[in-house]
Amino acid sequence: MPLILGLESSCDETAAALVDDSRRIRAHALAGQEAAHAPFGGVVPEIAARAHVEALGPLVERALAEAGVGLDAVDAIAATAGPGLIGGVMVGLLMAKGLALATGKPLIAVNHLEGHALSPRLAAPDLAFPYLLLLVSGGHCQLLFVEGVGRYRRLATTIDDAAGEAFDKTAKLLGLGFPGGPAVERAAARGDARAVPLPRPLKGSAEPHFSFAGLKSAVLRARDSGRYRAEDIAASFQQAVVECLIDRTARALAASAGATALVVAGGVAANGAVRGALQALAAAHDLPFVAPPQWLCTDNGAMIAWAGAERLAAGLVDPLDTPARARWPL
Ligand code: KG4
Ligand code: ZN
Repeated sequence: MPLILGLESSCDETAAALVDDSRRIRAHALAGQEAAHAPFGGVVPEIAARAHVEALGPLVERALAEAGVGLDAVDAIAATAGPGLIGGVMVGLLMAKGLALATGKPLIAVNHLEGHALSPRLAAPDLAFPYLLLLVSGGHCQLLFVEGVGRYRRLATTIDDAAGEAFDKTAKLLGLGFPGGPAVERAAARGDARAVPLPRPLKGSAEPHFSFAGLKSAVLRARDSGRYRAEDIAASFQQAVVECLIDRTARALAASAGATALVVAGGVAANGAVRGALQALAAAHDLPFVAPPQWLCTDNGAMIAWAGAERLAAGLVDPLDTPARARWPL
């Protein structure tokens, strides 16, 4: 039963996890960097890279100790090789290369987006290919028809900001703190989603894509008008995002014949309103709805280890000179 070590360091989460190919998460260790970035209201790449350097080694040791195994018990070493903040990606990938070289075990260079895309299969053993995936994170907002490991057909993407980015910018504009998504969700729970008229960019459009930049500008105008409470802006913003996500996903469902399920992954999938609306959409289409538990939606090592397990099972391993990539479309 192959055991995979997975490393994640592409943004502001440092993580190491051990997952076997029967979907047992043997260990997962994670260190966030929120306090380091909070004074700047966003992730500072240089600070992130340094923090990964400090955190990663101890996290690998912690994961091994938690699983009660040594490196010799690990069958392959997987790490995010991109896309992401290049300094951080290099830290994780170099660590993985060093461990692979020292142990003679194969290296698996995982696309971070593939980590998110396959993570629902770690949580839901019955989830079979193909499925329609809404991948919504801080850096990405895409609809993918997932046909198999390494086989992703992109049906839609954002033409400007990612959904998580819109949450983060809205939080900053409203002074709600960092990280933005959970802060907006908490404020929205105390607000009235009908209080502030906000646009629904590209809703109902014939093209398949997403857009959130106009929404962000509208939030800025609403704030500067001085007419609304922050909670009401947050609730109205969240409602607008949900409606855009649902509209675009419904459109993609019509083009996804044969899909076994509607699936959501990525940090924004931790949002209760987003999950609830997608669940209702799936039910209306008589499809099962699959969302990983919240901790598996935001960046973590288990999703990278699991993508490594799926790739290893498919015979996909990588040479030690595999490059780290800031950009890497799926
Ligand atoms: O997948 P992830 O951890 O990192 C990326 O690969 O980008 O996603 C992080 C994003 C951030 O923009 C964060 O604000 C958003 O996910 N997020 C949320 C929630 N939790 C995290 N957005 C809305 N509601 C949440 N509860
Ligand atoms: Zn991510």
